[in-house]
Amino acid sequence: MSCKEDKQAPSDDLKLRRDRFRAEVLSGLRKSQKELPSKYFYDEQGSRLFEHICALDEYYIPRTEAVIMETHIEEIIERLGPNVLLIEYGSGNCAKTRILLSHLREPAAYMPIDISQEQLLCTTRELAADYHGLEIIPVCADYTSDFELPVLKRPSARRVVYFPGSTIGNFDTIPAKHFLEHIAGVCGPSGGLLIGVDLKKDPDVLHYAYNDRQGVTAAFNLNLLERINRELNCDFQLEWFEHYAFYNPREGRVEMHLVSLRDQTVHLDGMTIPFAKSESIWTESSYKFSLDDFQQMAAGVGFKVERIWTDERQWFAIQYLVNTAGATL
Ligand SMILES: C[S@@+](CC[C@H](N)C(=O)[O-])C[C@H]1O[C@@H](n2cnc3c(N)ncnc32)[C@H](O)[C@@H]1O
Repeated sequence: MSCKEDKQAPSDDLKLRRDRFRAEVLSGLRKSQKELPSKYFYDEQGSRLFEHICALDEYYIPRTEAVIMETHIEEIIERLGPNVLLIEYGSGNCAKTRILLSHLREPAAYMPIDISQEQLLCTTRELAADYHGLEIIPVCADYTSDFELPVLKRPSARRVVYFPGSTIGNFDTIPAKHFLEHIAGVCGPSGGLLIGVDLKKDPDVLHYAYNDRQGVTAAFNLNLLERINRELNCDFQLEWFEHYAFYNPREGRVEMHLVSLRDQTVHLDGMTIPFAKSESIWTESSYKFSLDDFQQMAAGVGFKVERIWTDERQWFAIQYLVNTAGATL
C-alpha cells in the first residue's frame, strides 16, 4: 500500500473508534474463554500480512475463488445484469472485485465497505485510476454494527451485495443468520447476493491452510496483540504467546487461538488480566459449509440459491442468491 496521505481520520472519529476498540478488547479478555474480535486483525500491518497469506501455497481460498470467478465470469455478469449497484462487504484490496468490475455492464456504482480506513481509501484511489467513469462510494464502517448506506445519485436497476472470501464463515451460526438477514434487507426484493463460501474438505488441507510453513498466519494472529499494545497502550509480551489453529470437526470450523506459554499478567486501562499457562485467547473462527447447510441457512432468511459455481475439487463455492422475501432497508 502506498497511500500515506490518506491516513488522517478526523480526531473525534478516531477517538470514537479507539474507545470502541478498547471496550471490545476489555470485554473479550474478561470472558472465561478469552476472545478478541477478528475484525481487529486488519490494521496496516495486518492487511499487509493478509495479502501475504493470500499468496501462500497452503492458503487455497483466494486462488480457488479467483479461478471460479474467471471461469464463469460471463454467467456471473449475466446474473448481475446492467446498471447494478454493487455493494461489497469487507472489500480489502479488491483483488477479486477487479474481475467483476472489468466485466460489469454499465454499473450504476460500486460501494466498498471496510473497517480498515487506510486500506479502503488506498484501494478506492487505485480503482478510481483504473476504472474511469465508475462511481465509487467508499464506506468506512464496521458492518457488524449499525451504519447508514449513502444514497446513490442516480437510480440503479438492482442492488447486489458481494461478499467473497468466505468471510461469512467468520460468524457463528446465529450471527451468520442475522447478518444474512441484514444483507437481504440491504439488497431488497429484486436484489441479489454474490457470496464466496468455503466448503468442508480433508481436515489436513484445512490444517495446513491455517498453519503455513513460513509462519505468516502465526505473525498475522500475533499482530493483533501488537496492535493492542500500540493503540491501547497495553503490555502483551508477544514471545509469551503462540499461534494455535486447528479444525474442530464437530463444529465444522477452524479455530484460531493465541496460547499463553506461561502464567503471566497483562495490563490494560488500569486492569490486570491474568493468564494461566496454556490458557488461550480465541481470535477467529472460520466455519466450513456443505452446500445443503448453506442453502438451508440462506432459505431461513428468504434467500433462494439460484446458481452455484465450484472448482473441480469442490473446495469452494461461489453462489448467487436472490432475495425472495425482505423489504429494502
Ligand atoms: C479476509 S479479508 C477479505 C478481503 C476480500 N474481500 C477478499 O475476499 O480477499 C476481510 C476484510 O474485511 C474487513 N472486515 C473484517 N471485519 C469487518 C467488519 N466487521 N466491518 C467491516 N469490514 C470488516 C477487513 O478489514 C478486511 O479488509
